[in-house]
Amino acid sequence: MIEAVLDALLEPALLLDANGRVAVANGAAQDRLGVWVVGRSYVSVLRQPSLLGPVEDAFADGKPGRARFAHSSGEVETLYEVRVSPLPVAGRQRQVLLVFRDVSELRAGESMRRDFVANVSHELKTPLTAILGFIETLQGPARDDPKGRARFLALMANEASRMNRLVSDLLSLSRLEGQSRRRPTDRLDLAVVLGEAIDPLRPGAEAEGVTIALRAPGAAPAPGDRDQLIQVFANLMENAIKYGTRPGAVEVVIDRIAREPVIRGPAWRVVVSDQGPGIQPEHIPRLTERFYRVDTGRSRATGGTGLGLAIVKHIVNRHRGRLRIESEPGRGTRVTVTLPAEIGSTGPLS
Ligand SMILES: Nc1ncnc2c1ncn2[C@@H]1O[C@H](COP(=O)(O)OP(=O)(O)O)[C@@H](O)[C@H]1O
Ligand SMILES: [Mg+2]
Repeated sequence: MIEAVLDALLEPALLLDANGRVAVANGAAQDRLGVWVVGRSYVSVLRQPSLLGPVEDAFADGKPGRARFAHSSGEVETLYEVRVSPLPVAGRQRQVLLVFRDVSELRAGESMRRDFVANVSHELKTPLTAILGFIETLQGPARDDPKGRARFLALMANEASRMNRLVSDLLSLSRLEGQSRRRPTDRLDLAVVLGEAIDPLRPGAEAEGVTIALRAPGAAPAPGDRDQLIQVFANLMENAIKYGTRPGAVEVVIDRIAREPVIRGPAWRVVVSDQGPGIQPEHIPRLTERFYRVDTGRSRATGGTGLGLAIVKHIVNRHRGRLRIESEPGRGTRVTVTLPAEIGSTGPLS
């Protein structure tokens, strides 16, 4: 009976008899810890003092407990949180039930958060250090030098706006994370939204010798969040202009797909392509990670935060759309955003 109950659990579980031997190891425990554990004493199975203590207490005093238990098989190390529950049996004897919860992923999440905080701090510290240096110069050597003062103030303004952009991007990301499960329902015209994203960028691009061509089929009605989609297209356009060639041409095409298999319904496909040096294939899967850049120096020099594509990915996911980046080194980059054309279609949920 107890065997059947423990086998129904997804988590590994061990039942220790009154003599401290493994009386039952459920299927998950046999898979994860090994078949050999059945019949062995818990001391030889568990071996880690952090867990042995609570098990001894459970036998001696009937006290429940919790402990961490690290188990490695081959190259994989799994971290468990173990619940130790004494079970009363006839007389003064006790059995002890151990249930193992795999917390490795939780721990990976914690370490990702730590990395993120370290990255943010580093990204903010760089411009801040520069600003402090300029202030020192203004207070000292450049105090009576009006020309130098103007130059240092301009540099400081530059660094401060970099910090400003970084903080805005971080706020965008955290807002997006909060609403990732709420799908936008406003109706809009993607062709108009694309125009609104492109128009403010056109003069700057043309000044650098980059032309932008938009090909749209007339109206492209779809559900969506206007401000967020403008952010998506502006980010992709900025990248195509920044990392493309100059003189050069950026092309934006929008067309309709009658039935997109992953979105399971009609969709709009927006393709932004440039003729730049492109991206080596090993970088492509990582581009949507926060702060991932192929060439950090170039990204920083052009005012990049390394968060643009992470934001794009979040917004596209929220719209149940798809993002695809393709590149042929030397020939250019093509970024495709596919968005559902109707509210009814159920796209991939991230
Ligand atoms: N069109 C493109 N051509 C070449 N590289 C690109 C292109 N778009 C993005 N990248 C690379 O991807 C990186 C991440 O892009 P993004 O998240 O927008 O950050 P940022 O532009 O702020 O550096 C860029 O630093 C760049 O190395
Ligand atoms: Mg960018």
